[in-house]
Order: sequence, then C-alpha cells, then structure tokens
Amino acid sequence: MLIRTVEFAGAVASPGAPTPGNLAQIAFAGRSNVGKSSLINRLLGRTRTVVARVSATPGKTQEINFYRTSVRLGSGDDRDFFVVDLPGYGFARVPLSVRGAWRPLVESYLSGTPELAGVVQLVDMRHDPTSEDLQLLEYLAELGIPTLVVLTKADKLRASARSRQQEQMLIQLGLPDEQVIAFSARTGEGRESLLDGIEALLAGASDEPD
Ligand code: GTP
Ligand code: MG
Repeated sequence: MLIRTVEFAGAVASPGAPTPGNLAQIAFAGRSNVGKSSLINRLLGRTRTVVARVSATPGKTQEINFYRTSVRLGSGDDRDFFVVDLPGYGFARVPLSVRGAWRPLVESYLSGTPELAGVVQLVDMRHDPTSEDLQLLEYLAELGIPTLVVLTKADKLRASARSRQQEQMLIQLGLPDEQVIAFSARTGEGRESLLDGIEALLAGASDEPD
C-alpha cells in the first residue's frame, strides 16, 4: 500500500459530535507520549510537512483528529479512508478534568462509529503494558473491533533486551505474534508491515472504494 495524499479533515472534541462520514476509518490509540504523532507522521510519509504535531508537553491533544488519506492498494486500485488520531491517555501531569473527559469522548467514538474498520493500539516497547493499555484492548475486543498492536520506540532497545521484552509483551497482552508489530519512527522499521496490516483492515471494512 502506498500513501498518495493526506489532508486534515477536522476534529471532534465532544462525545457524540458527528465525525466525517461515509469512508472507512482507522484509529490510532495509546498512552500519552507513546509516540503516536511520530508514528502517524512516519507512516504517512510526512517528514517535512508534519501532519500530527509532536509535542513537548505530553497529553495536550484532547480531541480526535481526522486525516483524509488516499492510498494505492496492492491491487493497483486507489482508495480513500480516514486516519483518526485519538487523544492519548494516562499521563499523570494532565489535569483530572482533562483525564475525565477522555473516556466519554473515546468510548462514544469507538462504540458509535460503524465506519471504524480497525484500531492500531500503540504500546511503548520498553515498558510493560499499563492497566489502561490492557483495559482499552479488552474494550476493543468486547466491541469486536479488529485491533493491531504496535510496539513503539523499537530503536531504543538493544537486540538482546528487545527479543526478551517482545516475548514478555506478547504474553502480557495475550496476543499472537502476527497481531503485533515492532515500530520505530526514528528508523522507519515496521512501517511496511503496518501499512500491510492497515490494508488488511481496510479490506475487511464494509464501505466500497470510491
Ligand atoms: P502526545 O500526543 O503528547 O500524547 O504524545 P504522542 O504519543 O503523540 O508522542 P510523540 O509522537 O509526540 O512522541 C513523544 C516523544 O517520544 C517525542 O520526544 C518523540 O521524539 C519520541 N519518540 C516517538 N517515537 C519515537 C521512536 O520511534 N524512537 C525514538 N527514539 N523516540 C521516539
Ligand atoms: Mg500526539
């Protein structure tokens, strides 16, 4: 799958607000500071003009951002879908009022968006998954939303520590190998696998390519 074009298509800041409709959506979720904006920029190939802002103050993005993305599929057909950047969770320094707003906003989006073709959940490869990571995974499974897990910042671990940690993570996440992708926004490792994974999620989505 090749990325053709990406453009910002709006933001949603309150539960139940309408989202851009009629196209499949792939949402990206994860703890604040996990590397979500960096991954989205690397994935979409925005190295000079970034799409998602990499922030010095984690947890600032408390809205859902939509990027209309046009891709060329492996089949040679073109297709449009929305890349959806969900607000991060779990950052201790974020005010309680902001943290309290996360759940209704994200749960109403996840449970109320029939166009949602899948979620890519990011977990920092260096640390064990948090209880919030596991809760979100469980919630997605309950809703029956196809989910890929990406282990971020893979470049920060040496080879030996890395394979050990990756094995541990699979056990803790309770997921098979093929549902988990190691990724580095710094080196680009994992980008092709993730694009393939997203193409597979889109292939399972009900809307027709336009
Ligand atoms: P919020 O939107 O603030 O919740 O954070 P985020 O999840 O979007 O994370 P962001 O992409 O802003 O990255 C957080 C920090 O991690 C930044 O300092 C990034 O440069 C760094 N970072 C992100 N991805 C990688 C990676 O793959 N490798 C390395 N070495 N650093 C990374
Ligand atoms: Mg971000």
